[in-house]
Amino acid sequence: MENFTFYSPTKFVFGKDTESQCGKLVKEFGGSKVLIHFGGGSVVKSGLLDRVKKSLDEEKIPYVELGGVQPNPRDVKVYEGIELCKKENIDFILAVGGGSVIDSAKAIALGNEYDGDFWDFYCGKAAPQKATPVATVLTIAAAGSEGSGDSVITKEEGMVKRGAGGECIRPKFSVLNPELTQTLPAYQTACGITDIMAHVFERYFTNTKDVETTDRLCEAVLLAMINEAPKVIANPNDYQARANIMWAGMVAHNNIVGVGRSQDWNSHGIEHELSGLYDCAHGAGLAVIMPAWMKFVMKHDVMRFAQMAVRIWGCKMDFSNPEKTACEGIQAFRNFLNSIGMPSTLAEVGGKAEDIPTLVKNFGLAEGAKTGGFVNLSSEDIAEIYKLAL
Ligand code: NZQ
Ligand code: ZN
Repeated sequence: MENFTFYSPTKFVFGKDTESQCGKLVKEFGGSKVLIHFGGGSVVKSGLLDRVKKSLDEEKIPYVELGGVQPNPRDVKVYEGIELCKKENIDFILAVGGGSVIDSAKAIALGNEYDGDFWDFYCGKAAPQKATPVATVLTIAAAGSEGSGDSVITKEEGMVKRGAGGECIRPKFSVLNPELTQTLPAYQTACGITDIMAHVFERYFTNTKDVETTDRLCEAVLLAMINEAPKVIANPNDYQARANIMWAGMVAHNNIVGVGRSQDWNSHGIEHELSGLYDCAHGAGLAVIMPAWMKFVMKHDVMRFAQMAVRIWGCKMDFSNPEKTACEGIQAFRNFLNSIGMPSTLAEVGGKAEDIPTLVKNFGLAEGAKTGGFVNLSSEDIAEIYKLAL
């Protein structure tokens, strides 16, 4: 295991009706004027927004509202939010929604404390140091942004998707009420589960030896998803299954299952260009890319893929042909994703073979450069992975 520092100070308030505590929590973390940030309307329709406002009213905390965040959140909304925050002297941002709303809130939080263009943090020109405090009321178990120090934003000009990361944007608190996820369409639920599993796999495929504890933690989260996913697809109101998935979404991405080991985020990077260009759901893009990436890199460490096949998918180890076992594991993952309604091909998320050069260009590797934590990939390798996903 490698040396590490793990510091993940978000306060999680989990369970039924917990959104009624928002006002008290904002007060606890020193907020005196709040921006409530939300998406395209699901929180209005469900009545959640009204309940959050009531909770702030009860504590006499003033607020302004900014809705309309799109999935794959855009820079344009972020600029609007920064302007509003500066005009209204906002000192606390409450994201009510999914990963897109939370990431938009984090970007606004950075921009509100910065004199330059907030995009500097996303194009690598500046490192996040200071942000207005952010908190979340989560409505979909997926991105893990409720416990992460990351934010991903799409720039409309060129439709490129980029991430920024820093401790200052890790949420101060996150309210996780699994009941709030019961209104999700099955497709969005499945996209979320796929993203959760992908966050674990990006950490599971490692070159670091002797990481049994985090290996087993990863496997536990994956096995729980395999168990719980069919339950919520069959019955969206299954509270206990929703609860398990919601907590898994946090655990999968606040890095507790990934500390002390090398990680590989190429599947995410390769997917981000899909959801950037085609505006597909991030989880659906991952369902297409991740098995293709697995096939492409499998030979690098056949035994690790065979371990996945045996421990996670229940395949029988073929000691005379571990590669066969490894392939069976990847196929089992593919079958599972299909069983919860996820796509398998680039075409199903809007992709076209002729766009592959654009996707690779947007990925942005310098000529001759390689990137990765498990297997280093060149632009040519990335093009091959897109082709495998056709
Ligand atoms: O906008 P509304 O009307 O709220 O509808 C949303 C949206 O259409 C809907 N939805 C959310 N909760 C709902 C609901 N509909 C009914 N009932 C509910 N309870 O679901 C749709 C998708 O929402 P979105 O926020 O986009 O989903 P998700 O949480 O999957 O977030 C995806 C974004 O997070 C980024 C992705 O790239 C993508 O842009 N990620 C962020 C990460 C991070 N910050 O740490 C890591 C991830 O790997 C990921 O890249
Ligand atoms: Zn993800």
